[in-house]
Amino acid sequence: MPIYVKFKSDSKLKNRLYLVSDEKELKKLDLDKKSLQYFTNNLAAEKFASINNAGEFVLVAKIGDLKDDLAANKVRDLGFEVYEFLKNKCAALLVSSNNKLAVELFAEGVGLSSYTFEKYKSAEKKAKIKLKGIFTDNKSAKLAEVGHIVDATAWARELVNEPLSYLTAEQLSADIAEKCQPVGIKVEVLNKQKIQSLKMGGLLAVNKGSIDPPTFTILEWKPKNAVNSKPIVLVGKGIVYDTGGLSLKPTANSMDFMKSDMGGAATMVAVTYGAAQLKLPLHIITLIPATDNRPGGNAYAPGDVVTMFDNSTVEVLNTDAEGRMVLADALAYAKKYKPELVIDAATLTGAAAHAIGSFGIVAMGNAKKSEMKALDKAGHKVHDRIVEFPFWDDYKEELQSTIADLKNLGGPAAGMITAGKFLEHFTDFPYIHLDIAGPAFTHKKDGYRGLGGTGAGVRLLVEFLKNRTK
Ligand code: BES
Ligand code: ZN
Ligand code: ZN
Repeated sequence: MPIYVKFKSDSKLKNRLYLVSDEKELKKLDLDKKSLQYFTNNLAAEKFASINNAGEFVLVAKIGDLKDDLAANKVRDLGFEVYEFLKNKCAALLVSSNNKLAVELFAEGVGLSSYTFEKYKSAEKKAKIKLKGIFTDNKSAKLAEVGHIVDATAWARELVNEPLSYLTAEQLSADIAEKCQPVGIKVEVLNKQKIQSLKMGGLLAVNKGSIDPPTFTILEWKPKNAVNSKPIVLVGKGIVYDTGGLSLKPTANSMDFMKSDMGGAATMVAVTYGAAQLKLPLHIITLIPATDNRPGGNAYAPGDVVTMFDNSTVEVLNTDAEGRMVLADALAYAKKYKPELVIDAATLTGAAAHAIGSFGIVAMGNAKKSEMKALDKAGHKVHDRIVEFPFWDDYKEELQSTIADLKNLGGPAAGMITAGKFLEHFTDFPYIHLDIAGPAFTHKKDGYRGLGGTGAGVRLLVEFLKNRTK
């Protein structure tokens, strides 16, 4: 788990980082002449400069005025750089700054950078990290809040990094209950029998080839002071492994990281956990349909017609388009809550990843314009950004089936949008769809986003929800 970030005023901590906005502020620091000269000379070119006084470190970084979101994100990046620099050098660091935002951003960057997935490494292979905590003397920095957001993101990343050999659908549900119940979230896990009695045909179809049962997990965060009378419903794609099923994934290595196909589920449960930790006064319900997708003897087959939870019939033309099958049932299930807004997150299409790569989330929907705007704003603020795609009904044409109500496969173009339109068919409420196939998982270490699961969407949605309570 990530290192902690805490307030500590009068500290005896020797290792110090000063975050200064400009040269003038640098001159005001309690530094001897030689050190001041050193920092003045080196700060122009470097992101931060450091002096090692017999194992005690003094660091200075220039952060500018933090006027825009990109400048602010540079402070998160600085957190990553300083973490990498200090992690094997000292146990604690005191961050001094009169800029509260800078301290929070820096702490967030360090916190996020300090998460690694080491569970399966033998003790001698595990990284030996000295740095255990970040402190600040800035009284107004909300480090507890930062800590909750970092922890929630780290949990999403941990779930994504867990392979199928541990994280079956049932294990995912058990992990969710174990983590969320202690913080006041109600967790109900529907088992296969219950899913069968509810006739969740999409989820059951995808599960047919599996030897492990599916689950449908319902989380509810309902504080007494909730400001919304109708709940916000979050839905996450919980495909714990995607082989493609009988439409087996065709290209080399395309299956290797499909343990990450529950990234949407990880994001949504982590957002719910984060909201509870922050005690957000919002009524939130989170739905997680989960199974693996495999070509077993009884696997659903291309050509099959599936009767879904809402009684719509779907002609399956590609069993690799399984995410929409399980999400459709969860979205239809969400109707019973008469939600104010429903958001789903899913590693749904390669098309989304191809369109914008890993730097953003493909978003679309039919909710009020102001909702998407608020989401976009939240994304820039926390640097977990969305790009809105069209959601025109024209795209729906592609989903017409000759034998059923619709088919689960669109045409060759705009696959991320036809997938979204498929999902919309199962909704009757304001709806936003987030395709996180691009940013959910990285193959090489990417700054504070790390390696492997990134927790894409967690900070975005926590910020979005937080803003709704203002
Ligand atoms: N899980 C995949 C999408 C995916 C691809 C996520 C790459 C992360 C990285 C999804 O279930 C899938 O296979 N989608 C198909 C849909 C197609 C068959 C309509 C795709 O995108 O190719
Ligand atoms: Zn698939
Ligand atoms: Zn998938």
